Amino acid sequence: MTQFDVVDLIRTKRGGGRLTQEEIDWLIDAYTTGTIADEQMSAMAMAVFFRGMDDAELSQWTDAMIASGDRMDFSGLSRPTVDKHSTGGVGDKITLPLAPLVAACGAAVPQLSGRGLGHTGGTLDKMEAIPGWRANLTHDEMMRQLEEVGAVVCAAGPGLAPADKKLYALRDVTGTVESIPLIASSIMSKKIAEGTDALVLDVKTGSGAFMKTEEDSRELARRLVGLGKAAGVNTSALITRMDVPLGYACGNGIEVAEAIEVLAGGGPSDVVELTVALARRMVEAAGLDADPEQVLASGAAMDVWRAMIRAQGGDPDAALPIAKHSDDLHAPHDGVVTDIDAMSVGIAAWRLGAGRARKEDPVQAAAGVLLRVRPGDRVVTGQPLATLLTDAPEAVDRARAALEGAFTLGDSSDCRPIVVGHVD
Ligand code: URA
Repeated sequence: MTQFDVVDLIRTKRGGGRLTQEEIDWLIDAYTTGTIADEQMSAMAMAVFFRGMDDAELSQWTDAMIASGDRMDFSGLSRPTVDKHSTGGVGDKITLPLAPLVAACGAAVPQLSGRGLGHTGGTLDKMEAIPGWRANLTHDEMMRQLEEVGAVVCAAGPGLAPADKKLYALRDVTGTVESIPLIASSIMSKKIAEGTDALVLDVKTGSGAFMKTEEDSRELARRLVGLGKAAGVNTSALITRMDVPLGYACGNGIEVAEAIEVLAGGGPSDVVELTVALARRMVEAAGLDADPEQVLASGAAMDVWRAMIRAQGGDPDAALPIAKHSDDLHAPHDGVVTDIDAMSVGIAAWRLGAGRARKEDPVQAAAGVLLRVRPGDRVVTGQPLATLLTDAPEAVDRARAALEGAFTLGDSSDCRPIVVGHVD
């Protein structure tokens, strides 16, 4: 491989120039193997943050990240594979009811997931609240579960796009996460390397999302879908609101409990609506003829959930952990809830112990914020707006501080749809 001078490449990008395919291949390989130092890649990430990448550069950058690791192959399965990826949101437990629902419709759903960092929780952290459940499966265990049960939620092995693992950790500590091309290449390198036939993306928009405006979210969706299609993956995206947390529960065990309510035919209406909307797209992308709403109502998705938990050592009937301490936040006056700021709730849940500050930190299974109201609800002075749950009562004051101003009480509230657009 031709050698380049990384400082020249940083200068090129910093000045708004474009990098060639050879330069990108070298850069990603040299960073993955340790030739390029973290501080140099940080400078490059910041240059990309400000200058962006055109479509050709983005596709080469993504290909180079895929080439940094292994590619998986699901072609031996008897069912079509279809996966979902969310760009991350507060209270986003949709994978939990969605994966068994789509499996119950006849697909194989490989959800290779991660742990949370910062204010959005990780799917594995949520699932690990279930007593006995394990995230690490061998390749053979995963394939067997996909064939026999139809859905698996497990840890992505270290071999999948290792360049992204390194680069994502660096972006997280250098203020370069919120870059459209860096997010797009990060997500799609993992999804393309995973080898799914079809992919539905849930691109979040609003105060609790990486992309705060609908325009940016649409651009991110366009670039994600473009990368997927170019790689032969049947890809489409929904753009969905993330101003307000999804559902009532923001934490680990409490989100599992809410997901189980959905599988049992109940649950908050926004969680049900988004689960069914994503399931419809996934079922269609997989070429199956099933109605997810009917399948959910039949209880078949709950059966798959139970089988999925048991297959990974968990007990679907075991009680979920309960926080040692709980504290309510009360309405300061009468009114109608017009807004609940997702970012503030995410930070409060994180401070209570549901999330981690460093990737090696443990999370508390029972900690989090349980909302007691939704936008549109009328409240009276002193009524609980949220319950703060933690095993560490000393965390409550800082969590309360994060929730200062998070609830807006007014005179009336409009009903806003959760799905605001799509990119095919
Ligand atoms: N999720 C990812 O996998 N990567 C990003 O860059 C952002 C969200």
